[in-house]
Amino acid sequence: MNRADETTHFGFRDVRLEDKQTLVNDVFHSVARRYDLMNDLMSGGLHRTWKDIMVNMLNPPKSDRPYTLLDVAGGTGDIAFRAAKASGAGFRATVCDINGDMLAVGRDRAVKRHLDDRVAFVEGNAEALAFPDRSFDGYTIAFGIRNVPRIELALAEAYRVLKIGGKFICLEFSAVEVPGLDRLYDYYSFNVIPALGRMVAGDAEPYRYLIESIRRFPHPRDFAAMLRAAGFARVAFQSLSGGIVTLHSGWRL
Ligand SMILES: C[S@@+](CC[C@H](N)C(=O)[O-])C[C@H]1O[C@@H](n2cnc3c(N)ncnc32)[C@H](O)[C@@H]1O
Repeated sequence: MNRADETTHFGFRDVRLEDKQTLVNDVFHSVARRYDLMNDLMSGGLHRTWKDIMVNMLNPPKSDRPYTLLDVAGGTGDIAFRAAKASGAGFRATVCDINGDMLAVGRDRAVKRHLDDRVAFVEGNAEALAFPDRSFDGYTIAFGIRNVPRIELALAEAYRVLKIGGKFICLEFSAVEVPGLDRLYDYYSFNVIPALGRMVAGDAEPYRYLIESIRRFPHPRDFAAMLRAAGFARVAFQSLSGGIVTLHSGWRL
């Protein structure tokens, strides 16, 4: 097939692969200012616990040993700030995101937290990172990978920029398979979340996309196979909160 004809999903819609990133960028442009508030409202604060568990799993050194983290699709900086708090004086993070509006909110938050000397914000695409090979000790991506049109390219880039011995961790929504909880979760996702979006951010549509994109994301087993295909070793995954989210990990060895 001609590359220009390739299609992918944007929520439940089939779109040209080439168009997905622009549509995703529009979503995050419109939610950037309300992003952090909406995260708390939509997850009842649970996203904080999931992110804390992710940073625990990353386990950056508490000493002054140098450690560099690349947080891709890092948006407003949540993972980098948590990792900075959990680590010692040698820690530095780079938050890389394709959307300048999300990064601008992140930079303001870094200044308020006095973390702007340890956390840098860089505009860039997960599919083509502007960093040298083997330059980071850790790579994190939270609620970001499902927005990337060519996931295989992003995983290849993650592998390339990690040092040997570097750790990859991905936090992403997954399909709830617990009987009973799945119906409740569906009702909440397709009714309550878009309504919250309309009330708080003035538009339900971006939130409808975010929910639909969760349903289209590969099953954790299939995503684990993609990680192995990208070269990662000791690939593992762990469901949290009845499968609402899954933590994936792997090593560059
Ligand atoms: C749901 S937000 C997650 C933000 C943050 N990681 C968090 O957990 O709060 C998804 C982010 O992915 C970013 N994104 C989408 N496509 C991207 C790409 N191709 N490369 C880098 N970032 C991308 C968006 O701009 C957005 O900031």
